Amino acid sequence: MGISIGLVGLGRFGQAFADLFRVHPSVDRVMLCDREADRIQAIAGRPGWHETFDPKDQFTRFDDLLATDVDAVAVITQPWLHARQCVQAMEAGKHVYSAVPIVSLPDGDEILEWCGRLVEVSERTGQLYMLGETSYYRPETMFCRRKAREGAFGDFVYGEGEYFHDVDAVCSLREVREQRLSSQAGHEWLKIRERYRNEGIRSGPMHYPTHSVCGPVSVMNARAERVTAYGYSNRNGDPFFADDAFSNVVALFRMSNGAAVRICECREVAGSFHQPETFRLMGTRGTYAERCWKDNFRTAAGTAKPLQEQVLTDEEMRDPLPSEVALAFKRLQDPDAPEESDFSPKGHGGAHPYLVHEFVDSVLKIRTPAINVWEAARYMAMGVMAHKSALRDGETLEVPDFGDPSL
Ligand SMILES: NC(=O)c1ccc[n+]([C@@H]2O[C@H](COP(=O)([O-])OP(=O)(O)OC[C@H]3O[C@@H](n4cnc5c(N)ncnc54)[C@H](O)[C@@H]3O)[C@@H](O)[C@H]2O)c1
Repeated sequence: MGISIGLVGLGRFGQAFADLFRVHPSVDRVMLCDREADRIQAIAGRPGWHETFDPKDQFTRFDDLLATDVDAVAVITQPWLHARQCVQAMEAGKHVYSAVPIVSLPDGDEILEWCGRLVEVSERTGQLYMLGETSYYRPETMFCRRKAREGAFGDFVYGEGEYFHDVDAVCSLREVREQRLSSQAGHEWLKIRERYRNEGIRSGPMHYPTHSVCGPVSVMNARAERVTAYGYSNRNGDPFFADDAFSNVVALFRMSNGAAVRICECREVAGSFHQPETFRLMGTRGTYAERCWKDNFRTAAGTAKPLQEQVLTDEEMRDPLPSEVALAFKRLQDPDAPEESDFSPKGHGGAHPYLVHEFVDSVLKIRTPAINVWEAARYMAMGVMAHKSALRDGETLEVPDFGDPSL
């Protein structure tokens, strides 16, 4: 028997996940929830839904969805709502998947409070929490985690993680914001935001740090201990940044394994050095950057061999999905795809199918998901403390930790 899942938030991003959850072989029933009824209809009317979707399984109120016997909910609402809704869902006995970040609010202390609360509620209730960080399942992140497990990096020495997303990039942040404010939930936020404005609390890109920190943190399996960061504040009066102390922040962290990690979160930059969202990691034995793996095979002093370089394809870097899961997702992309043909996953470097599978499988087996609440809190704490350091012109600050998986 499979699981039932309720999808909450069927906007621009949520609608990209609906079919993946529907076709996963271990999902028996999908429920749909959005305050905007037309967004539910847009999905329920898609090909493939009328055969399996029960019209009674649609809700415009989150409370009504939580009152059902649904096993789990995927929260893909606006970023300032996630934490509160995830707490509510776990308290109602549901496992939760949350779109990134844990929560994005102007006040860093509030973000840290929510991290602590999510950890506490998940531990107390035993309900699973998973963060849907797409960079966790980019091909290079999967490859580097495998290499790290083999010990092929040696000791980690240095890392870089970055998310360069200019406000006027092809995926325009102005349009994204406009969309997020266009719904009832968006209108309500404008009033809440006013309170932060009146209190002089100003946000920045480090309050959404998950894409840049996930690679180094998840590959090294280390946490940040200290940070010093500097910010750049918008200088041309762009109203997009009116509530932000910074449009760009660069931070340097000392990690628990002794490595140093440089993180960039930039929203006002002309392009990027390489990919706009990537990481690089150097170890005493192995180094990864820009699809290239370098290995000196050193296992002890004096044992290094001539450096070998291997340029990798996405296919070589990805982990395989279980064959029946890959087939279901492949048939979603192309109903006529032959069983034996290759599956090229799509969505943020092919991450979407992996995220869906990891969450469904963890709920099915009641096991701690890969991007669990403790890991997610680590990402968030790094961003919050980097923002605080930048506000204090680079003062070195301790990064709090929320512990390790206990479920
Ligand atoms: N790479 C990534 O991981 C990535 C990329 C894009 C977006 N996201 C995340 O996805 C989330 C959603 O982004 P979006 O662009 O789709 O936003 P959106 O505004 O288009 O959609 C959010 C939806 O949530 C609904 N909603 C809000 N409160 C609700 C409630 N109480 N009950 C039911 N529905 C409710 C809204 O009506 C809206 O339809 C954001 O938090 C964003 O951070 C992540």
